[in-house]
Amino acid sequence: MERNYGILLHGGARSEKINASSNRAKKMCKFIAHASNEGYFLLKQGNSAIDAVEYAIIMMEDSGIFNAGRGSCLTIDGRMEMDASIMSGIDLSAGSVGMVQGISNPIKLARHVMERSKHVMLVSKGALEFANFMHMPPKEIHPEKKILDKYMKLKKTFKHYWNEKYNMPYDELEALGQQGTVGAVALDTDGNLASAVSTGGRWLKMSGRIGDSAIIGGGIYADNRLGAVCATGNGEFIMRLCLSKYACDIMKRRNASESSRRAIKHLTNLFGKNTGGMISIDSGGGIGISHNTPYMPVSFVSSRDEKNITYLSMV
Ligand code: GLY
Repeated sequence: MERNYGILLHGGARSEKINASSNRAKKMCKFIAHASNEGYFLLKQGNSAIDAVEYAIIMMEDSGIFNAGRGSCLTIDGRMEMDASIMSGIDLSAGSVGMVQGISNPIKLARHVMERSKHVMLVSKGALEFANFMHMPPKEIHPEKKILDKYMKLKKTFKHYWNEKYNMPYDELEALGQQGTVGAVALDTDGNLASAVSTGGRWLKMSGRIGDSAIIGGGIYADNRLGAVCATGNGEFIMRLCLSKYACDIMKRRNASESSRRAIKHLTNLFGKNTGGMISIDSGGGIGISHNTPYMPVSFVSSRDEKNITYLSMV
């Protein structure tokens, strides 16, 4: 019997109100569906889960419509500092980068860290030096007008915090929907699992802040014996719970759906609602989608029926 394979993506657990039939919602769904179709196509051709998740994330980084790559949010100083990570369930190999600037596709650099360095995590200046070695030299990325406009608007709203930036009220910011990440999990035709994530982090974060998306076990985890997981939301909470590893461990006894549900319940119990979301896939190809935010765009294609299922998951 042929093995089941597939890919599941998310476009960030988000807090702002949205009308599912609005143009913005349609645009997100259209794009994420395109990325999952391309990822699935790679799997169908016999490419690895790692190739599929990396490719789907690159597409979302390049789209400019999610908080990752070109669409990344800005620090309080008006800079893009991005985090990304990738993990293979075959041998637990992993790579991550933190607070990288001027790199169009941080996920590619994270994969290079995994495959071409002896380390798991590189940040800041060292990560950029490594990017040069990998022939992806940092270049100036000019944020698009819509991102600069948003920055100016937030600067006006939160002007009282500008001189004490360590005290920014992120709860208020997030209630306005100022968060997001892109993530992917996949199972390939050989039964191998992989997970990947990329983000600009949180709007108006302090320069130097690194979130869960760069932390293996926090933002992602993959283990062929259990499953692959990718978290999204408030990085400060997610990393303190090692949430992706927590969810993976639940898959020792439960399927992906139950594991995601329990992990987000754990997040909600400890840190409240509107704090995050998760996608997961288990070694049998079962999937999990869970969040405690108003919505999360998701897209899934599997070899079971090859149908693309894309929607704004709402709670
Ligand atoms: N989950 C993305 C971040 O907090 O950076």
